[in-house]
Amino acid sequence: MTHPAPPANPERRRLLRLGASVAAAALHAPGLTGQRPLRVRFSHVVSEDTPKGLVAQRLQALVLQRTEGRIDVEVYPDARLYGDRDEMEALHTGAIDMLAPSLSKFGRVGFPEFEVFDLPFLFDHLDAVHRVTQGAYGHRLLAGLHRLGLVGLGYFDNGFKHMSADRPLHEVADFRGLRVRVQGSRVIAAQMRALGARPVPLPFSATREALAKGIVQGTENPLSNFWTQGMHEVQPHLSLTRHGYLGYAVITSERFWSRLRPADRALLQTALSEAIAYGNRIAGAQQEKALTALRAWGGTTIHEPTARQRAELARVVEPVHAELGQRIGPDRIRELHRAIGA
Ligand code: SIN
Repeated sequence: MTHPAPPANPERRRLLRLGASVAAAALHAPGLTGQRPLRVRFSHVVSEDTPKGLVAQRLQALVLQRTEGRIDVEVYPDARLYGDRDEMEALHTGAIDMLAPSLSKFGRVGFPEFEVFDLPFLFDHLDAVHRVTQGAYGHRLLAGLHRLGLVGLGYFDNGFKHMSADRPLHEVADFRGLRVRVQGSRVIAAQMRALGARPVPLPFSATREALAKGIVQGTENPLSNFWTQGMHEVQPHLSLTRHGYLGYAVITSERFWSRLRPADRALLQTALSEAIAYGNRIAGAQQEKALTALRAWGGTTIHEPTARQRAELARVVEPVHAELGQRIGPDRIRELHRAIGA
């Protein structure tokens, strides 16, 4: 079965046109500065027509326009250059300059405090996430990236995750023994184990194939990732569990960042903040678009858990919160709840 092309995106086309015309202008006017553009290589693992893909493109277009092509943010989507296993290393060695890993991927590189974002059934709404990411709590986490020579430039959303599998997932018992692809987050793995499932950490770019081959039987994703990866073609059941959040931190290396002129750093940071604000505005619509496409496609049965079923899932995974509290300190968890306003 072939993967239907994701629906056309007028905003993306507009941005690409804008980027292309500015890039063309830059190419044809080398005499303006007499220098080759400064390249900022931005690598990511998802498709272009996702919140992250669109944030990267918006950044590219804004920077090209404002510098008249002097700075070129080159975007490499779909793990074309680097994937989950080697992108951090590539950032450290200077092979790339910017990344936006999911917050779930910071724990395994030494920042377990980021795994608070993986806690199941923690956030009811994206506003609650933003109270954390845009407040003192979120800023402190980004500042802490300094420990590994990284600079945290900002957060943005993908959305809420849902479970999919080769079988319907209604009740906790349905998860028993299910091999589930997870990101490399101890919180997510613990959550799957609490449900009786068997977590299998795999890079994002390997997930669809692992599902197709039956190496894993289920996974969790926001709808935009599920649809644009064609996972619906290999997952006959999707349960709209909305059990967790997936978001990103944009990072660069101190080495790269400190070499930029202060004015260029400010320009990049401003453009990124605007691209992030745009991404957060469209993230919800991207999920809706994917859900509409999935319904129209019709090959995946979409289940809506009842309030009782969802409450039971939440009850079973609740101990994962205390477990993380033991690793990062119960004060951190209390502070997190204060930030959320819960
Ligand atoms: C991403 O959205 O960057 C990928 C998340 C995942 O690995 O599931």
